[in-house]
Amino acid sequence: MSNKEKRALEFYHHLIKNQKGNAWKHSPCEIGKVDRFARRLNEESIKDFRRNGLIFNPKQPSLLHILKYLSVLITSFKFKFSEVDDVLVGNPYYYNLLGNKVTDDSIKAYFLKKYIEREIPNVDSVLEIGGGFGALRERLNVGFYAIVDLPEILPLTFYYSEKVGKDTTCIAPWELPGLDKNFDLFINVMSFQHMTKKNLDYYFSEIKRLKPKHLFILNRNHKRDPTDVKMDDYPIPKEYQLIKSDKYPFSNHLIRIYRYQNQG
Ligand SMILES: C[S@@+](CC[C@H](N)C(=O)[O-])C[C@H]1O[C@@H](n2cnc3c(N)ncnc32)[C@H](O)[C@@H]1O
Repeated sequence: MSNKEKRALEFYHHLIKNQKGNAWKHSPCEIGKVDRFARRLNEESIKDFRRNGLIFNPKQPSLLHILKYLSVLITSFKFKFSEVDDVLVGNPYYYNLLGNKVTDDSIKAYFLKKYIEREIPNVDSVLEIGGGFGALRERLNVGFYAIVDLPEILPLTFYYSEKVGKDTTCIAPWELPGLDKNFDLFINVMSFQHMTKKNLDYYFSEIKRLKPKHLFILNRNHKRDPTDVKMDDYPIPKEYQLIKSDKYPFSNHLIRIYRYQNQG
């Protein structure tokens, strides 16, 4: 076992032993991850986590699907093909296009990077809740990046960021109230949509306390599972003003950007 796999496994056992509180706890649609992850995690499976069903069951997307996604990038931004290259940590399915290894994750993370850079100025510190293994983190070049995620994902964030050499502060959900830092940007991508009202109240009370300058929120505005909360019903603190609303071009999700208004 290399040191990186070993450290990620140790981190997982540390998280499981030290869990506290329940306001952040897995919603019914996330609970299946708990046992499945514990059963499958080992020094070999972590190396292939983007292919072997450790966290989800990935399918090889069709080439047509990938080309359709790439056409969104071409029409939205000035983009260089080489910037969509995926580092392949976690061994995902990919297509080799013009010498670049292109994945569903790499296209979407690149879109978000370009979109955020275009719409939100001067971002040097980011707090992302539900950041997954860190695909977006890898692409955003900022001085400080913190990710909060469930104990069944955070070891992968830790592992991935070490492998790609992007310094990332991995914060367990129950540790968030101990964080004291100014952030330029808060991000949540397709994660609040999996949470209960109790989870959202917990995380939004932390956002209210930390006062990041902007919020970038991309989620469903409809319920899929009974405990889901629509985007329209998120408890956005009153200090935040909506400054941009957009459709996400790859699926039926909305992008909303809010700016902190100093209340004096
Ligand atoms: C669909 S994935 C999206 C991951 C990443 N943002 C992306 O777009 O690829 C949803 C993420 O939200 C996280 N999540 C769900 N419930 C959570 C909770 N209560 N607290 C923290 N993270 C949570 C999941 O573990 C997962 O990483």
